[in-house]
Amino acid sequence: GTITFTMIKPCAVKDNYIGDILSVIEKAGFKIIALKMLHLSEKKARLFYAEHQGKSFFNELVEFISSGPVVAAILEKENAVQDFRKLIGATDPKEAAEGTIRKMFAKDKGHNAIHGSDSDASAEREARFFFNELEVFL
Ligand code: GTP
Ligand code: MG
Repeated sequence: GTITFTMIKPCAVKDNYIGDILSVIEKAGFKIIALKMLHLSEKKARLFYAEHQGKSFFNELVEFISSGPVVAAILEKENAVQDFRKLIGATDPKEAAEGTIRKMFAKDKGHNAIHGSDSDASAEREARFFFNELEVFL
């Protein structure tokens, strides 16, 4: 299979949705091959979301992602990146399809419960950003 990277964002951790979200992910056929809870510094959050530097919401995004603990994971499945984007739904939960993680667990566009890599290259970069080889179980 292929891999994708995901992160349960601070809003969903605060709302006690970690277990529910991991359950949806596993039931959808993804294998969790790495998992940890951590609190990103502002500096690390800025690096993680570097592609969004310069956008109007960048500072808000960095502040939010570093506001509390997140749950990071690497997921394995055939067609992982594309299938996972489908499972999480549109960036804005108002536009997310029924049954998607964002439809079920997100508050709004800025607090949308979960991240999913947008390409194989991003998945690789993001997985390496959070995990070393001893923490990944392929
Ligand atoms: P991620 O999986 O988190 O990368 O979301 P995405 O790929 O669906 O969206 P994108 O990469 O375009 O944006 C990254 C994150 O920035 C989103 O998940 C939102 O939380 C946040 N974001 C995007 N647009 C806006 C916006 O207009 N306002 C605010 N406050 N946040 C935004
Ligand atoms: Mg994105």
